[in-house]
Amino acid sequence: MGTPDGNPDSAAEWDARYRATDRLWTSEVNPALPIEVSDLTSGTALEVGSGEGADARWLADHGWQVTALDISPVAIDRARDTDARPAITWLQADLVADDVPGRDFALVTAHYFPIAAVDVAVARKLIDAVGPGGTLLVVAHAPEGVRAHGFDPADYIQPGDIAEMLGEGWQVITHETRERGRPAGGGHHIHDVVLRARRM
Ligand SMILES: C[S@@+](CC[C@H](N)C(=O)[O-])C[C@H]1O[C@@H](n2cnc3c(N)ncnc32)[C@H](O)[C@@H]1O
Repeated sequence: MGTPDGNPDSAAEWDARYRATDRLWTSEVNPALPIEVSDLTSGTALEVGSGEGADARWLADHGWQVTALDISPVAIDRARDTDARPAITWLQADLVADDVPGRDFALVTAHYFPIAAVDVAVARKLIDAVGPGGTLLVVAHAPEGVRAHGFDPADYIQPGDIAEMLGEGWQVITHETRERGRPAGGGHHIHDVVLRARRM
């Protein structure tokens, strides 16, 4: 991925980040996921940038058939070792280079998934993977938290950019900045930017 300097940019770099610790992220579901998904009828879900798998596990717990995708083989192996139930397919893939595995998902969800500003095609892959009547949920850290970690939010595609890409045939259900509830990133990430949209 053409991510700006300082962010992992390849499977090897993400692997190194995962290998550096037994657990990189919390094992709790990201707060926006239950808020936005609990009123949906479960079906097939694509969980993008699944990391250590907490969100995929929550989805499977709630009746979803999940394809959980991450660039890092270390993260995928770790997630599979934690939960090998058939409701979750753990898949190593790089969404910059690879196609989305499958189509017409009832839910495509991505939390804190870094899409470099130059990689508009990656955002398009997420949008196109949603089937008729399906939901796209993209959650990002709010800009102040991103800056606190030394990154420029303008270097990344934001939920608002994705909202502008949707066009006709989509209904935006939620597009807002809200308190995350549990600060993340050493306390810097206090607010989420949440985009939830439904393909008509
Ligand atoms: C900030 S982490 C978020 C992990 C997880 N969603 C969470 O909230 O705990 C971003 C994840 O995206 C993955 N990732 C980064 N670039 C990717 C790409 N091009 N294709 C697939 N996964 C990627 C990383 O390996 C990492 O697990």
